[in-house]
Amino acid sequence: MPNEQSIEENIHRDCDEERETMQALKARVAELEALTGELSKANRNKGVYLANMSHEMRAPLNAINGFAELLNDPSFGEISPQQKKFVARIIQGGQHLLQLVNDVIDIAKLEAGRIELEVQPVNVGRAAEQAVMVGQGLARDRVVSVEPPGAQEPQMALADERRVKQVLLNLISNAAKYSHEASPIRVAVGRQNGMVRISVSDEGPGIAPEDQERIFEEFVRTKSATTQAEGAGLGLPLSRKLVQMHGGEIGVESASGEGSTFWFTLPVAPPPGEAAGTAIGDRELSTHA
Ligand SMILES: Nc1ncnc2c1ncn2[C@@H]1O[C@H](COP(=O)(O)OP(=O)(O)OP(=O)(O)O)[C@@H](O)[C@H]1O
Ligand SMILES: [Mg+2]
Repeated sequence: MPNEQSIEENIHRDCDEERETMQALKARVAELEALTGELSKANRNKGVYLANMSHEMRAPLNAINGFAELLNDPSFGEISPQQKKFVARIIQGGQHLLQLVNDVIDIAKLEAGRIELEVQPVNVGRAAEQAVMVGQGLARDRVVSVEPPGAQEPQMALADERRVKQVLLNLISNAAKYSHEASPIRVAVGRQNGMVRISVSDEGPGIAPEDQERIFEEFVRTKSATTQAEGAGLGLPLSRKLVQMHGGEIGVESASGEGSTFWFTLPVAPPPGEAAGTAIGDRELSTHA
């Protein structure tokens, strides 16, 4: 039978143990907080380093590209057909590297919240037509169509037109890179669940279900892509960040061997005369990341 003294001792021991556990927990929380702080600082430093280094690379790259193009100019002297081929390779490689550098700068800026959207009502069909025209160059005259042709009602989104075209061009260039040379690429603009929806479809090899989410992560490329075409794996993650900044979503519908449809959505622009915020409901459209 425990006496009064032993009960008191037990209570004291329990209290002491509880206090020790609490202290240990507090120390662990403080350790974890310090670690998280260090990690996010390291991540910020990585972003700043990448952005600065890419920025420094842009000037010499522009010089390489510019002077390579001048070599093609006969007013500076004729070059042999063989040399012309080499110059074309320099220009191609230089432009590819410039695109990569620009993507790295954009991603670093987005992560640091230093990209501002210039949001206004955008006629998405028209923006798509313009992106398609640029895309034709990438797709080497393959049929790239905007559907529905001459749409009855223009689809107006509240968006940054330059960024919308950038996303579209990323998707069109992927469709051109990863699908068969003669197959068509289709761009469609429509409405879905109160959002403007833009899609780019190809008849290429498609994407396996287990890869469909991964490819939106930085530097992720599928095995077959690495043998098919050059790329860094930055186009889709950059596009996703830009679309999300608008309050939209991006995704892909695909099955192996059956082509892919990449789609993204944008908030609908309010009818002329209404305040910009009302078209996107309670969700406030952020103008920077
Ligand atoms: N239309 C498509 N058909 C098949 N696979 C695709 C398609 N679009 C993207 N992918 C896959 O998704 C990966 C990631 O695409 P993403 O655009 O991010 O990078 P990339 O095209 O490889 O390089 P970058 O865009 O940086 O030049 C590609 O490497 C490819 O494996
Ligand atoms: Mg790409």
